[in-house]
Amino acid sequence: MQEKIIILDFGSQYTQLIARRVRELSVYCEIHPYNNLPAFDESVKGVIFSGSPYSVRQEDAPQIDINLFHNKLPLLGVCYGAQYLAQKSGGEVIPSTIREYGRANLHYINEVNPLLKNVPKDSQVWMSHGDTIAAIPEDYEVIASTDTVRVAAFHVSGTQTYGIQFHPEVTHSTDGKQLLENFLVDICGCSQNWTADSFVETTIASLKEKLGNDKVVLGLSGGVDSSVAAILLHKAIGPNLHCIFVDNGLLRKDEFQQVLDSYQHMGLNVRGIDAKDRFIGQLTGVKDPEQKRKIIGRVFIEVFDDAAHEVQDVKWLGQGTIYPDVIESISVKGPSATIKSHHNVGGLPDFMKLKVVEPLNTLFKDEVRRVGKALGIDDIILQRHPFPGPGLAIRILDEITPEKVAILQEADAIYINNLKSSGWYDKVWQAGAIFLPVQSVGVMGDERTYENVICLRAVGSVDGMTADWSHLPYELLARISNEIINNVKGINRVVYDISSKPPATIEWE
Ligand code: XMP
Repeated sequence: MQEKIIILDFGSQYTQLIARRVRELSVYCEIHPYNNLPAFDESVKGVIFSGSPYSVRQEDAPQIDINLFHNKLPLLGVCYGAQYLAQKSGGEVIPSTIREYGRANLHYINEVNPLLKNVPKDSQVWMSHGDTIAAIPEDYEVIASTDTVRVAAFHVSGTQTYGIQFHPEVTHSTDGKQLLENFLVDICGCSQNWTADSFVETTIASLKEKLGNDKVVLGLSGGVDSSVAAILLHKAIGPNLHCIFVDNGLLRKDEFQQVLDSYQHMGLNVRGIDAKDRFIGQLTGVKDPEQKRKIIGRVFIEVFDDAAHEVQDVKWLGQGTIYPDVIESISVKGPSATIKSHHNVGGLPDFMKLKVVEPLNTLFKDEVRRVGKALGIDDIILQRHPFPGPGLAIRILDEITPEKVAILQEADAIYINNLKSSGWYDKVWQAGAIFLPVQSVGVMGDERTYENVICLRAVGSVDGMTADWSHLPYELLARISNEIINNVKGINRVVYDISSKPPATIEWE
């Protein structure tokens, strides 16, 4: 049985980060909303209460019965979680006289307390709270303080219940990881057995049991998630996995064939479908980005549905859903309000009525890469930059034509190849070329030209939510610009995008 930690989410922006840190310590954990508790069987080794945007003093603040956990399982309250424990046990929580936000240092530390093992005096921590624990119950012991916060950490004497006012999950808390490790290993007794290899082994065994002799159909995109999901399923059920890889004509130059070849090389039962004309035909004359996205989504569903029908007796739809998507839909804030467009078209396509199998739905993105590596998947797939589903359609501003797609593919290939040969590909999070709908005057030889502009974009990011433009060397940009203008007919000007997100976005459409 996979031992685990349960993180109860009270709505903090940092809850996911706690989970990531726990996983980094090779301990499996799950996030659950405070108001929808999972089963607490013997696999649960401990509980963490997250922070919250609420104050414990608010009437509508999230409530939970602490006696379900306190004295039954090791328990760590973080920020709101700590204040909630203190208040419910008879302590007093009051508004802070000054807002405590940012770095602070633990000038007092109880060095013999197991939670603080190897955490040095004056360790830097990250505070973010508007309330302070002013008084604690008698059986609570203060085990760390800063200059302004006396109860920076507490231990309920004689129990395995702890609270900390700061955020150990944020990297600004320099010993936060040590503190979490102390809680997980020394206090909860976790054996740190959550590794990519153990995940692969247990997942393949459980997929075998779940799927038996059933057939599964899965759409590959060339991206990391669907590729790793496919290989896991393939290891479990072999040729009963039927993969479909659609060429929508909007992929990078030669990408369809290269990726198809590498899938086949990995032994996948994969069918490539050339649907270029079907997509481009439907996009003719369309300028609006959202319209483009809808059309591409709809045509993909049609093409996929046709292909899935050709697999006899298929029972399951495989998907590369990862944990952040799952958390989003179960979060305290409730399921995302966005209704996907295919939910509006009346009557779902047949494949969407299949049972769904999602082998990666407990993993974070970096874990998916590690699992991919453990499965022996090529770096060409694992280290690939994110690429949007609508592909080059949203990198050709305005109307799409086959000629523009061809020009953009050439320019983009020159750009990406140079990033790779200069070692910059792995240093940037995402890069791509954009075809701008403007023409400008140039001169080539004795000729005046009036041609198109290519914009280069490269950004650094962690998750795509925020991004900063990458500071590529001038020499590299000069080489790329020359190569594009000299080799790609129809382009006489290259520009570099120096906008960050926000306020810009990564894609131009
Ligand atoms: P933005 O442009 O919103 O992009 O800053 C953030 C990340 O999302 C990708 N992206 C998309 N991915 N379908 C996708 O599958 C889309 O319609 C789409 N739009 C943007 C983008 O490439 C970046 O990684």
